Amino acid sequence: MPSGLLEGKKGIIFGALNDQSIAWKVAERAVAEGAKITLTNAPIAMRMGEINKLAEATGSEIIPADATSVEDLENLFTKSMEILGGKVDFVLHSIGMSVNVRKGKHYTDENYDWTMKGLDVSALSFHKVLQTAYKMDAVNDWGSMLALSYIAAQRVFPDYNDMADNKSYLESIARSFGYHYGIKANVRVNTISQSPTMTTAGSGVKGFNEFINYSEKMSPLGNASALDCANYCISMFSDLTRYVTMQNLFHDGGFSNTGVTQEVIEKFAE
Ligand SMILES: NC(=O)c1ccc[n+]([C@@H]2O[C@H](COP(=O)([O-])OP(=O)(O)OC[C@H]3O[C@@H](n4cnc5c(N)ncnc54)[C@H](O)[C@@H]3O)[C@@H](O)[C@H]2O)c1
Repeated sequence: MPSGLLEGKKGIIFGALNDQSIAWKVAERAVAEGAKITLTNAPIAMRMGEINKLAEATGSEIIPADATSVEDLENLFTKSMEILGGKVDFVLHSIGMSVNVRKGKHYTDENYDWTMKGLDVSALSFHKVLQTAYKMDAVNDWGSMLALSYIAAQRVFPDYNDMADNKSYLESIARSFGYHYGIKANVRVNTISQSPTMTTAGSGVKGFNEFINYSEKMSPLGNASALDCANYCISMFSDLTRYVTMQNLFHDGGFSNTGVTQEVIEKFAE
């Protein structure tokens, strides 16, 4: 039930590709809670055209930007501030891609050009977003900058491949930049570590269906859905979480603190 949590706030949402995308749900929920937003995605993703439906449904404009291009990001912040009528209060970075994963290249046989590309898209782009906003003074006091991560940053999930390294770097950027942004402008920076979720990026990981079932059984509350993740993002954009910064926040039904569940143990009964 919307309760106007983001009334009067303005934000930028990266990464809505189709209606399964976590960013898609965040955009819908943010607008339902009273925010005004702009949507952005890589020019190549625009070709699918799905994002136009979201723009229409949320009454928002789309500004294409490759998140690895500082020039595109400067244009994005400039145009967003024009359209929204001032500085923004929140940004969602919901971007991930590994060429090694896409092309089935094993972690022990990485193509380093692909590794660098994936690192740039999945992690360094968050630094570029933060640094661009910081230099342009584009975020209001107590603003909230958020990126989405996965527990493979802390523990090994072999098929997650080099995305695990990308997520570690992403979480480190949230900590390091969160320090500087906090000092400069009381802006908070966090990552949310989400349960496995059936989306285009998620299902690119080998054995994802089996894995999502395993994770469901290993989480006391079950896997968190994309909509629940969106709700958590909304709370992080709201004024109710003003002193949370430089954190990696697990949104995973308890998976991260569970050693084993009874249901999984029983599968090994002799
Ligand atoms: N699906 C999961 O299981 C899961 C779990 C934890 C975290 N996450 C993270 O959530 C985020 C969103 O992923 P999703 O699952 O909603 O999948 P998704 O495929 O819907 O979203 C990924 C987005 O990244 C965008 N993107 C790729 N390259 C880009 C670039 N150069 N510039 C701008 N945008 C670019 C894509 O166009 C797409 O919109 C990612 O960071 C992902 O790693 C996903």
